[in-house]
This record gives sequence, C-alpha cells and structure tokens, in this order.
Amino acid sequence: MSESPTQAADVLTIFGITGDLAKKMTFRALYRLEARGKLDCPIVGVAIDDWTVEQLREHAHEAIAATVEDPDEEVFERLAERISYVQGDYADAATFERVGEAIDGCAQPVFYLEIPPSLFATVVHGLAAAGLTENARVVIEKPFGHDLESARALNAELCEVLTEDQVFRIDHYLGKEPVMDITYMRFANSILEPVWNREHVSHVQMTIAEDFGVDDRGRFYDAVGAMRDVIQNHALQVLALVGMGPPTGNHHDSIRDKKLELFKAMRTTDPHRYVRGQYEGFLDVEDVDPKSTTETFAAVELEIDNWRWSGVPFFIRAGKCMPSKVSEVTAVFRRPPLLGIGHGKTPEPNKMTFRIEPTPGSRMRMYAKKAGEEAFEPADLEVLFERTPGEDPEPYERLLGDAIAGRHTLFTRQDAIEETWRIVQPLLDDPGPVLPYAPGTWGPAKANELTRGITQWSEPWLP
Ligand code: BG6
Repeated sequence: MSESPTQAADVLTIFGITGDLAKKMTFRALYRLEARGKLDCPIVGVAIDDWTVEQLREHAHEAIAATVEDPDEEVFERLAERISYVQGDYADAATFERVGEAIDGCAQPVFYLEIPPSLFATVVHGLAAAGLTENARVVIEKPFGHDLESARALNAELCEVLTEDQVFRIDHYLGKEPVMDITYMRFANSILEPVWNREHVSHVQMTIAEDFGVDDRGRFYDAVGAMRDVIQNHALQVLALVGMGPPTGNHHDSIRDKKLELFKAMRTTDPHRYVRGQYEGFLDVEDVDPKSTTETFAAVELEIDNWRWSGVPFFIRAGKCMPSKVSEVTAVFRRPPLLGIGHGKTPEPNKMTFRIEPTPGSRMRMYAKKAGEEAFEPADLEVLFERTPGEDPEPYERLLGDAIAGRHTLFTRQDAIEETWRIVQPLLDDPGPVLPYAPGTWGPAKANELTRGITQWSEPWLP
C-alpha cells in the first residue's frame, strides 16, 4: 500500500456544515483544536442552506456556547476568522467550481463529508470532476454500508476517484483515549503477553450499555438496530485491539494490519448464538414503525480460529435502556484448581477489565485471604487513567486533528470493514425473533443462555 502524503492540510472543507453533527460535535472539536493551537488552516463550510458567512459564524458561536463550558471569546474569534461559506447543491457542478475557487492555491485539502452516506459518491465525483481530489484526503462517517454487499458497492464508488489512503473512515470509538489505552496496557507490560491466550484465558466478554433509549433518533435507529449501530463497528474494533497480536514496525498500518489479521481469523457468526431484544416502549418512539422488529439490544458469541484464541469464546452484548451507561471488556482467566486452602472452595477466576466508560481504567481482579477467616476475598489491582477532566483530546477532536495532519492509524480501513460485515452477515440474513425486555434491565433473559455452561455476564465494574 502506498504511503499518502503526510504533510499537514492547508484547508479543511466541511460538507454539511449546517447539519446536526456539526452543531453537536464538530464546532466543539474545532474550538478545542483552536484552543490548543492545533488548527492552522482556513475552514470552508459547504451546505445547501442559503446562509451568509455571518450567519454561519453566529451558528458556530451558538453551537460552541451550547457544548463548551465557559468558552473563551478570543479563541472563538480566531476560529471564526478561519471560516468561510459556499452555498450550493451537491448535484450541481457549479457548487464544486465555487469550492475550487474558495480553496484556490491550497495544495493539501481535507474534505470532511458530514452528509448522508447516500451522497458520498455524488460529492466525491463532483470534487473529482472539478479537479480537486488529486492530493486530497476525504473523511467520512459510518455507516459504511448496511451489509457486506452495500459496503463494497459504496467503496467501489469512492475508489473510482480516490485511493484507499485518501479515505479516512471515522469510527469515533477509536479516537477514545481509553480505547487507545488498551493497546498500551497490553503491550507495554511484559507480564501480560505470556498469559494473553487460550492457555490462560477462558473467555472474553464485552458490554456496551447505555441507560437511555433512542430519544429523538427514532428514524435513524429503526433502520439500523444495535448490531449495525455499535457491534459491527465499535465493539468489533475494540475486540480486535484486545485480541490482536503485537503490532510491529512503526508505520501507520502496523496496528491496522494486526487488527485485520484478527478479523480474518474470526468465524462468521452463528445465528443460533445470537439474541436480540427490544425495550418496551421503543415502538412508541417518534418515527419508529409501530410494528418494528429492530433490536435495541444484541448479544452474540464470536469465535476466533488462531493459535492464540482457538476455543476461547468472545461474548458481546450491547443495548439501550440498560441499568447503567458502561462500556468495558474483560478477559476472564481459567479457574484455579481445588486447593488445600479456602475450606474446600475453589477461588473465582482472575479477571482483567478495561473500562472505557464511565471512568477509564483497568482492573485486575485477584484473590487474597479474608482477614481472620480461611476464605478467599477479592483483592483488586486498579489503575484509573485519571486525567484532568476535559483535558484529553476528545474523539472527534483527535480524529479531525489526525485527518488534518495525515495520520491514518485511528481510521478504519476498507479491508477491515469488509471483514467485520462478513463476520456479522449471517445475523443480518437470519436475525431471528426480537424479544421484549423491560427498560432498566440487562436485556431479555435469553441473553443469559448464550453464556450458560461457560460463564455468566459479569457485573459491570462501576466507579
Ligand atoms: C454511536 C451510535 O456510533 O455511538 C449511538 O450511533 C451510540 O447509538 C454512540 O449512542 C455511543 O458512543 P458514545 O461515545 O456516545 O458512548
């Protein structure tokens, strides 16, 4: 794979700048980059709305006031001065001529497409026809298709005018600091690698739970469901970091290559090892089909055929309206044998947990002697990745900064995307029934059968 130029971008062009994602995430990310002195190029917004640049700046000001605590006006002014606006319809070649005029003289543009995926191809072809793609980077957001075939079709359209290295696909989970911590914890500590395999680990389990429903995203969510919304992307990306081999060679594909290797070793899933749930009340959400069978909870077992993990089940559950907002992954080690200590009881297995939400950290659950008794009790080794709140780069800030700088590592590659769709495709083809569950519970009881005989879902590690 060729190396793309890694020189910093000299212009950031945002299609869909007047939309919801920009309002909720992008202006905040740009403000934070500006505040850190990491923004050094003009920003050209593009959208269909008939706004003046003053209106756009005013809108940015409001978006920042709503998402940043105590914003600094001087930082905002610096940011506002960078912003210009091009109004136009993406189906009209004249729009791209105007974009060309707005970025005239720039050698290394970044185009960030905050637009529905159905418009990606129109925009990149419009850019190409105007001669603007040659040295460009194009940043796009999930969903990258809704199954394997559509993911390939979308990519084929992009590849007509772009090379793989020009496309930066955002999975915002990969921009989370605690997700990056997983790789560091695993490989910076030589005591872990010798036990990180099927000799010592009995199974791995991951939970991505939210304690709220779909709120005002009924239309989007009803068409997607938990499997496509978080498991095919966020959960599998994190599991790849937990299961991959050590990255070698200091280049932007070293981690991505190792993740791909792991995905390739994952079996395509078995619909019999899949449970779907829907919280009671989902059908009343605005814009949800009253007969919808979309899942708001999904639990699945994955298997990996390689020397490290063969025979070690990886369980994932993800859902809305769960008892708490928590995102964590745990490797559960093999149980010690029955010992001549502890009054004939077997100690529980050790567990190593990486917590992404709420408070990032990692915990090794060990067992020690209970004081005064001949019994075992948990003795946890905890590391909280404590940082000053608000100081770490946030996912969108980090990823936008990386796209501007030309750093690929945290973006997903098409080969990995196709593997992840391949892995879950049988569940999309044969999803099985959707079972109701009460809000505030861990999904339908059947999810417990999935792990039966091997384990139970662990109580999440909450602060
Ligand atoms: C998004 C999903 O990709 O990730 C949402 O579309 C989900 O449904 C969100 O709520 C979770 O990410 P975070 O960072 O908000 O925990």
